[in-house]
Amino acid sequence: MADISGITDKLIKTGSLNRDEIISLLENRTPEIRRTLAEKASAVAKEIYGNKVFVRGLIEFTNYCKNDCYYCGIRCGNKNADRYRLTEEEIVECASSGYDLGFRTIVLQGGEDPYYKDDLIVNIIKAIKKDHPDVAVTLSIGEKSYESYKAFFDAGADRYLLRHETADFDHYAKLHPANLSAENRQQCLFNLKTIGFQTGAGFMVGSPYQTYKNIADDLLFLKKLDPEMIGIGPFIPHKDTVFADEKAGDLELTLLLLSMIRLMLPTVLLPATTALGTIDPGGREMGILAGANVVMPNLSPVGVRKKYSLYDNKICTGEEAAECMNCLKNRIERIGYEIVTDRGDNIRFKMAYKNEIKN
Ligand code: 5AD
Ligand code: FES
Repeated sequence: MADISGITDKLIKTGSLNRDEIISLLENRTPEIRRTLAEKASAVAKEIYGNKVFVRGLIEFTNYCKNDCYYCGIRCGNKNADRYRLTEEEIVECASSGYDLGFRTIVLQGGEDPYYKDDLIVNIIKAIKKDHPDVAVTLSIGEKSYESYKAFFDAGADRYLLRHETADFDHYAKLHPANLSAENRQQCLFNLKTIGFQTGAGFMVGSPYQTYKNIADDLLFLKKLDPEMIGIGPFIPHKDTVFADEKAGDLELTLLLLSMIRLMLPTVLLPATTALGTIDPGGREMGILAGANVVMPNLSPVGVRKKYSLYDNKICTGEEAAECMNCLKNRIERIGYEIVTDRGDNIRFKMAYKNEIKN
């Protein structure tokens, strides 16, 4: 029997565990351990960012995707998906309405849709930045070449989200068709960091075939990559995918992992994801109390929201953006936190950004 209290103490004191220790902690976890780590993790988040939760306005601008990831509802092989694309004008307008609601980070997310050539993405970034220079633009549009990423960065994009999905090459191959590789995905992440993006990685909790060893490798990969943002949420089956009959990821395990990530990478920006709010009505609040410090309400036009269906029963697909913003504000305040609408940069980037504005 492993010395679990020794392992949790080590995590709390040093923020560092080896693979065997992570596996032991996951295997021997109890609700009590989860609560202890949640307390410590949320205290760390408070020490660094205060009792503040950053909001990001998410615009899901296309659900076309050239990839066929086995878990994802907008995979190209899903003939039941009702496809849509927003025009440049619609995207920029949506960003402006977000701005008016107070958002100072706009996340442009989409499937890997070849319709949006680099020049178009560059134009969209520039248009948003021209209208609103004080907004941070985050992209989440998948794997691209170094040159494309560089062009987006030079156009003014600040951040990029690209979950690594799973660090284990064999596990990756069980979740994706053969034309996609963990190696390329990880290379993309290192390229994004080299270029200067605040970079986000992450993975699904409870994806099919995932083992505790896989999760341990994910945490070690994150520690090595040292990203500014980490997105994790439970896997949730989608009816039109290969994994329709698989079971969803576990709430308690996701919360424990949020706390472990906060303790391992204290300054990271860590969302309580929509998927977490989908498997449990109080999931996002519990995520914040476990150490998360970001929420990403949906800003997409209401008419397309149901169509951006990565998994079944996704929440907030009917509400107006303003409704979601108010709802989240109330939810966050009820647990003693405060929504803040500034850019919410990773603290490591904040100083650099301030200096840039002065010059
Ligand atoms: N359940 C939960 N998360 C999913 N994602 C894609 N499909 C699902 C699903 N069925 C996640 C992936 C992707 C992010 C945008 O959404 O991790 O990177
Ligand atoms: Fe969307 Fe509550 S956050 S309705």
